[in-house]
Amino acid sequence: MFEKLQKKWKVTGLQVLVILCTFAIGGSLTGYVGKKLMNLTGLEKGLLWVIVYIILITIIWPVAVLVVSIPFGQFTFFKKYIAKLGRRIGVGSNESGVGNGEWGVNSSILPTHDSRLTTHVAIFASGTGTNAQKLIDHFRNNAAVKISLIVCNKPGAGVLQIAAKENIPSIIIEKEKFFRGNAYIEELKSFDINFIILAGFLWKIPSALIKVYPSKIVNIHPALLPAYGGKGMYGAKVHEAVIAAGEKESGITIHYVDEIYDHGKIIFQAKCDVLATDTPDSLAQKIHSLEHQHFPLVMEQLLIK
Ligand code: GRF
Repeated sequence: MFEKLQKKWKVTGLQVLVILCTFAIGGSLTGYVGKKLMNLTGLEKGLLWVIVYIILITIIWPVAVLVVSIPFGQFTFFKKYIAKLGRRIGVGSNESGVGNGEWGVNSSILPTHDSRLTTHVAIFASGTGTNAQKLIDHFRNNAAVKISLIVCNKPGAGVLQIAAKENIPSIIIEKEKFFRGNAYIEELKSFDINFIILAGFLWKIPSALIKVYPSKIVNIHPALLPAYGGKGMYGAKVHEAVIAAGEKESGITIHYVDEIYDHGKIIFQAKCDVLATDTPDSLAQKIHSLEHQHFPLVMEQLLIK
């Protein structure tokens, strides 16, 4: 049941709980205030009492829920929720900025933008998520690109904390279902995902997923492909290999994902020097800086044509 609400409202599991609490407390407050006001009217219990009570609680409820939502940090959600309810019953304008049923807190839809044109991005990541954070920051107020989902295969990964902090829904995927099941295609579709960015995701992408997202999956690799790529070439292993080979340069590669590890068409590369004094750690830092500097901008150029 919670999963359905999570998808419908496009929020995290924790947020569903907070929203339900807000509904419950807002509802109780409405009943309490409604009864107090009815006492002031001095009306006898009867049909007129019921009619006036219904009118009163209809007016009080949105106000009560909005007030309660503030300390719970859910004001944006309820503002949109109430605006949508209002439109359904023919009250209020159609210009609330809620498009495509998107009620996520960070939807940031600009009024002039047609939300049907928004690219909904899923970031697949299983590490600390520093690149995911840079992408989220970069597209935060961009109406054309929305980071709508974080997909992770490692419970406890730092990127999941980032998702929770940013109010971005996240799913933890299982190997069996990813490779021999439905590759989570249904789940991605339920979040309207139309582009996937791999930012520190180590599993090979199943061909079923590549077929559904042709030229719409991009990876970032911490070396100058085609060198130092392929199965098992990730994280510190890449930098160790680069240093052991005595390379004078390394860098980053942003590329499309195909069915072979680190093989798809290269979109962008940037280089840095490898000094004799560099260690895998110091090289990793240089590479991370390059990634943070370029990845969001390259994705922007790719996604907003
Ligand atoms: C990056 O270095 C990226 O190139 C690689 O995984 C790392 C992810 O780092 N694919 P972070 O979790 O974004 O900090």
